[in-house]
Amino acid sequence: MDREDFVRDIYFDNAATSPMRPEVLQSMSAFFTEICGNPSSLHMPGQRAKRAVEEARYTLAASLWAEPQEIVFTGGGTESNNLAIHGAAQTLRSRGRHIITSSIEHNAVLSVCRALEEDGFEVTYLPVDGSGILDVPSLRDAVRPDTILVSIMLANNEVGTIQPINEVASITRERSILLHTDACQAVGKIPVHVHDLGVDLLSLAAHKFHGPKGQGALFVKKGTRIKPLFQGGHQERMLRPGTENVPGIVGMAAAIRLALEDLDSDSVRVRRLRDLLERGVQERVSGVSFNGHGEKRVPQISNMSFASVDGEALLLALDMRGISVSTGSACNAGSTEPSHVLRAMGLDPGIARGGLRFSLGRQNTDVEVNAVIEALAEIVPQLRTL
Ligand SMILES: Cc1ncc(COP(=O)(O)O)c(C=O)c1O
Repeated sequence: MDREDFVRDIYFDNAATSPMRPEVLQSMSAFFTEICGNPSSLHMPGQRAKRAVEEARYTLAASLWAEPQEIVFTGGGTESNNLAIHGAAQTLRSRGRHIITSSIEHNAVLSVCRALEEDGFEVTYLPVDGSGILDVPSLRDAVRPDTILVSIMLANNEVGTIQPINEVASITRERSILLHTDACQAVGKIPVHVHDLGVDLLSLAAHKFHGPKGQGALFVKKGTRIKPLFQGGHQERMLRPGTENVPGIVGMAAAIRLALEDLDSDSVRVRRLRDLLERGVQERVSGVSFNGHGEKRVPQISNMSFASVDGEALLLALDMRGISVSTGSACNAGSTEPSHVLRAMGLDPGIARGGLRFSLGRQNTDVEVNAVIEALAEIVPQLRTL
């Protein structure tokens, strides 16, 4: 890619994945080459790698207000969700087979729940209101004596709404039901404190906060028993056997440290850019509606629909101009179905099919936002005439 291409590129898909920070890459680089030992080896190179993994565990745990022994390193958000939900369900199946989740979860939760339904579990999918916030009273009504697990995401990946997890926790705690939250879109964007939230299990993925792809973690509260997904060696207290991704783990710790150092300034900056985008679009483009909650959402996400415009057609037209956005989740790209999140919020299928997600990052600028507003002001009327 030459310089001209790079300057033209406007990346507003940071919720799908975000560019790694140079400092993160630098922190990882020695672990691909000089510090090459296997953390399970007894010799010095191995022990050096092990020390780096344990320091990273300490950093990540501190960022969540957890203990180091409560962190299990995984291969990303999907794996963390699988480990949490499968692991808890298989451990507790003799106690009960009922699980509660929401209808707006990422597929990395919904698909696990569907697989468990085929394995004899029953799953209740709770509704959300028109702004994408969980209906907490419906959770209270859904709880049964055989409910073993509740899994509700902390921040939604399509519309960014932040769910009232501590209200959920007050219900689950009362009844000794395990609570898992998928916090992939929240960690590094808003303060995440596992004890304030009251969760037993929490998933995160490094590439959502400018860390490396293919690296995640699961917080497992002390005393919570879950079964591993795979069998093998003794790594990660046997919950995630296999040689650790040492560069990935080191990079994730560097990324969370930087994200927390810059959390206040970045969230003010990104929120300001998002508001600038929404205001500009509102002023320049007719027939736009904003999906999700105006306030209770993470700063980086804006989801909008344009009346009589197909979201995918708009995405492709923006892409032709070097502007990257997405329709809902990257994992559903190519699907012709309207977003399950927007449908669950009660939007009609036409509007839900038109939903476009703009997700900003710390690297985006005012100039880019203005260029996107200009592009939308030109493209949307053109698409309407087709
Ligand atoms: C809310 C949420 N959960 C889970 C995932 C899956 O994470 P990963 O791609 O790291 O497996 C994502 C990423 O798209 C996400 O946004």
